[in-house]
Amino acid sequence: MHPDVEKILLNEEQIKERVAQLGRQISQDYQGESILMVGILKGAMIFLADLVRHINVPTFFDFMAVSSYGAGTVSSGAVRILKDLEKSIHGRHVIIVEDIVDTGLTLQYLVENMKARGPASLKICTLLDKPSRRKVAVPVDYNGFSIPDEFVVGYGLDYNERYRNLPYIAVLKPEIYQI
Ligand code: PRP
Ligand code: MN
Ligand code: MG
Repeated sequence: MHPDVEKILLNEEQIKERVAQLGRQISQDYQGESILMVGILKGAMIFLADLVRHINVPTFFDFMAVSSYGAGTVSSGAVRILKDLEKSIHGRHVIIVEDIVDTGLTLQYLVENMKARGPASLKICTLLDKPSRRKVAVPVDYNGFSIPDEFVVGYGLDYNERYRNLPYIAVLKPEIYQI
């Protein structure tokens, strides 16, 4: 275990099993279609990479980078586009892939933004959901795990850009968040 980690909330095995289930579910739901997976950088990168290896319908990729948090653990609510989609999503079956839905502000912005581009359908897939922190309602179609209100890192999620490469989801020691 990483020395900065206080406890592991979801271990590698739990994540692996649930991600495979989600992939199978998506494959069933999109039989006969092709999917455009829109990964939201940077947090969703690890989840997206693992998820799509369990999807067996034609799958295409694009990415958006937005930032709401900046440094620290609290959402500012202000969403900025750092990188936009490369291609039109008009007429495509789009799934937005996120690592976590917290206040919902990032996804609210993304859903409105992408709906305006005329996709054939638009769904949301997130690895983690923190329902207790929600400020705006967002329709989550695929959710890996609902978690309590603790600041988590690993498997793509960062604290001040660190810890994204941990293979599990963990809570850091309190003294780390104070630095
Ligand atoms: C985090 C996370 C989600 C968003 C969730 O991204 O990856 O995208 O915040 O928070 P919300 O529901 O309160 O809007 P962040 O802005 O930290 O960027 P990152 O993915 O590059 O870490
Ligand atoms: Mn993010
Ligand atoms: Mg972040």
